Amino acid sequence: MARILIAGCGDLGTALGQNLHAAGHDVWGLKRQPADLPPTIHPLAADLTDPATLDRLPTALDSVIYSAAAANFTEVAYRAAYVSGVSHLLQALRAGGQQPQRLLFVSSTSVYAQHQGEWVDENTPATADGFSGRCLREGEQLIWDSPWPAVAVRFGGIYGPGRTRLIDSIRNGSATRPTGAPIYTNRIHRDDCARVLHHLLDLPDPQSLYIGVDDEPAPLDEVLCWLATQLGVPNPPAAPLAPLKPGATRNETAARLRASKRCRNARLRTSGFQFRYPSYREGYQTLLAAESITRNSGHD
Ligand SMILES: NC(=O)c1ccc[n+]([C@@H]2O[C@H](COP(=O)([O-])OP(=O)(O)OC[C@H]3O[C@@H](n4cnc5c(N)ncnc54)[C@H](OP(=O)(O)O)[C@@H]3O)[C@@H](O)[C@H]2O)c1
Repeated sequence: MARILIAGCGDLGTALGQNLHAAGHDVWGLKRQPADLPPTIHPLAADLTDPATLDRLPTALDSVIYSAAAANFTEVAYRAAYVSGVSHLLQALRAGGQQPQRLLFVSSTSVYAQHQGEWVDENTPATADGFSGRCLREGEQLIWDSPWPAVAVRFGGIYGPGRTRLIDSIRNGSATRPTGAPIYTNRIHRDDCARVLHHLLDLPDPQSLYIGVDDEPAPLDEVLCWLATQLGVPNPPAAPLAPLKPGATRNETAARLRASKRCRNARLRTSGFQFRYPSYREGYQTLLAAESITRNSGHD
């Protein structure tokens, strides 16, 4: 049984924590408001931006996963979540004399600057020059420079339970199909993200970097039309890609920054990982089926 800390234990961290608990591990979830964690994860109230709150970490940790998210799409929030928070946590681990065998850092494919449909993999230089890409790369470098074996995972757009932005946009008629060159999107189902992190914790000799996306970078208009067919509604109208509206959410803005490139998952595949949802079709089909069961059983 390993002792595992998930720092920034939100949606993804909780899914991972539950899998790790089911595999027999002892799991702590660190966040500012830990009351919403399930009973399988020990709650640890702390603020990664405030080092004074990090002096009571569980002892003798075997692994640490960093999965905190920025509160909004500003440089201040990104620096707090992906740079200062990482630095404070590493300092607390050092101060506590901890010797974890593995650190994992949850990063994003938005570190890549490509946006014309190019293929990218772990050997492609990550040169996105916006603050989000820069902060994520700094966070990755901090864990790689730490005294412990460290792995960063660059996930594409995460979808899954409660993350139904595309489905909702088709239902409410706000979706449009972008015209012009295909806009490639790279996705991964939330449950596969948790499984990737679990796999990388168990892998005997991992590399320091993995891209975490499913098998199929897909043009946005193809995904929208496929979803419209599943929902039995007309395809969304075609329109030029509109600029982001002021006040766009963190996720909308980050999604725009992640397009349009095609991310290769060969390194993850070669390491032995098998997707439960190898493309958006399997993943969204499961989400839509779960919605329909909920509706038919009278819940909203
Ligand atoms: N959404 C995507 O499509 C996508 C794509 C690629 C990568 N990612 C990355 O995936 C990671 C996990 O995402 P997620 O969806 O699980 O996010 P999430 O549900 O928002 O979880 C993040 C957690 O971090 C905690 N947190 C934030 N600031 C903190 C602080 N200062 N101290 C302690 N805890 C803090 C929050 O809990 P409290 O508020 O209680 O502190 C929250 O529960 C993030 O790093 C994100 O950038 C996301």
